[in-house]
Amino acid sequence: MSAIEHHTDVLVIGSGAAGLSAALRLAHLGNITVLSKAEVTEGSTFYAQGGIAAVLHENDSVDSHVEDTLIAGGGLCKEAAVRFTVEHSTEAIHWLIDRGVAFSKQDQEYHLTREGGHSQRRIIHSDDATGKAVSTTLVAAVRAEANITLLEHYIALDLITEHKLGNKHQANRCLGAYVFNLTHDRVETISARFVILATGGASKVYLYTSNPDVASGDGIAMAWRAGCSVANLEFNQFHPTCLYHPAARSFLITEALRGEGAVLRRPNGERFMHEYDKRGELAPRDIVAQTIDHEIKKLGVDCVYLDISHKDPDFIKQHFPTIYAKLMEFGIDMTTDAIPVVPAAHYTCGGVMVDLNSQTDLAGLYAIGEVAYTGLHGANRMASNSLLECLVFAQSAAENIEQQWSQVTLNSQIPHWDDSQVTDSDEEVVLNHNWHELRQLMWNYVGIVRSDKRLQRALSRIELLKQEIHDYYANFKVSNDLIELRNLVIVAELIVRCALQRKESRGLHFTLDYPDKLENAVETKLNPY
Ligand code: FAD
Ligand code: SIN
Repeated sequence: MSAIEHHTDVLVIGSGAAGLSAALRLAHLGNITVLSKAEVTEGSTFYAQGGIAAVLHENDSVDSHVEDTLIAGGGLCKEAAVRFTVEHSTEAIHWLIDRGVAFSKQDQEYHLTREGGHSQRRIIHSDDATGKAVSTTLVAAVRAEANITLLEHYIALDLITEHKLGNKHQANRCLGAYVFNLTHDRVETISARFVILATGGASKVYLYTSNPDVASGDGIAMAWRAGCSVANLEFNQFHPTCLYHPAARSFLITEALRGEGAVLRRPNGERFMHEYDKRGELAPRDIVAQTIDHEIKKLGVDCVYLDISHKDPDFIKQHFPTIYAKLMEFGIDMTTDAIPVVPAAHYTCGGVMVDLNSQTDLAGLYAIGEVAYTGLHGANRMASNSLLECLVFAQSAAENIEQQWSQVTLNSQIPHWDDSQVTDSDEEVVLNHNWHELRQLMWNYVGIVRSDKRLQRALSRIELLKQEIHDYYANFKVSNDLIELRNLVIVAELIVRCALQRKESRGLHFTLDYPDKLENAVETKLNPY
């Protein structure tokens, strides 16, 4: 059978808020191909609950949103990126409304909720299922667009660059990607004039996470292998309140619950957040997660409790219908019972370094959404700023691509993937073991509280795993699990290397060896060369 090749103007890898927005903003220019490695809606975007932060109320201002973001970011945000994002926030929301996203209204006005770190009500939402509303609307718009081809169940394996093809005398440029067609078990080639990584985050590197399975850091690892710099990967955000229940997997209890008055309690019913921070339950997320972790360890308990039962039951059911229904499946009635919660890995604040045009170090390659490091989040992302970042940077990437449109031609002379030297795997079980070991060791040694000793211990185990996975990759045919595991182990290593570089505690990075903040802290940047 002859090898399959595709040619496209723009290849967008990922079909979350970032990828779909970029595709829609580019569709008038030429043909756009969007990949998703599972069903088109499967990604963090679909599961987003709380909403999208934006300047929408007359009492709010760009300055106020900027200031809150800078404070939550623990002194490490890039102010230019914060201002750029917030200045485009109102327009980004109107773009979604124009596409048909039905945000919740009260008395004919859009209802704005509150979350940790925000000094104002500024989170526009669609009940407690904002991501579903955004995702389904954008998917429908993409499906209706003749210029966009959607390839579901295709996992990008590696980026193709001039230098990887051996053309070292040429300026390096991204030329496309090798992708694994999961339906037909074969590697295909996609050549593109421009490539956009919109692959989401890497929280699956931890054993417990609020994220769906697709969040395996593929974009970060692919960009790293293609020669791009990454930064700030030590800042993994742990969401303070994921449901603690043996039968519940990855279910988040939105921070908007605390925004609407829910409180955190010890198992004996006492509140505790005000003992640690005067903002109480609405302190930024890093502080709430660290406090819960501390309480759980101090008391030797499995979880703490989130309680909104003092509010009117109709208010609870009306504002949080998805969470109410889900909890009822587990026999928890949130109108009368406190909800058992624990922190879990939620968001990758660092990522592939980009500028305000979403351009990476590699010509022709853009990164947008959770895969990217724009400088917006600093040491701790403020709640509901990430969907906003997806929308704003999708637009900036699209504008930059449009400016370069006529100058870039397609290279369709790309060699096909060569798997003549590999065989079918004889020991799939190795992959399972390595998966589990990696995620467990990241949870144990690179979690909410760190130390140099724990990080070094993690690094030496990661090096062994990396070698094993590399040998496996060199000898056996690729599969979805192998591709993801190969990426996850790289991301794990990069997280630990960033964490070892930071000799202080700040935001989401807390280490027992350096408990204080440094005066002149900067981003932790890693370059593959
Ligand atoms: P995603 O939406 O994660 O999409 C990634 C896409 O990339 C998927 O289509 C996936 O299939 C594809 N992909 C990945 N790797 C490959 C590959 N190798 N080949 C092909 N395709 C690939 N943020 C907010 O601002 N507000 C909220 O209320 C909020 N709530 C959240 C609730 C939950 C439970 C979670 C998990 C996150 C929440 N976040 C929230 C964070 C936010 O949802 C994400 O940061 C954001 O949706 C990321 O969007 P994205 O487009 O970058 O990636
Ligand atoms: C939530 O709804 O608590 C998640 C919000 C976010 O991660 O931005």
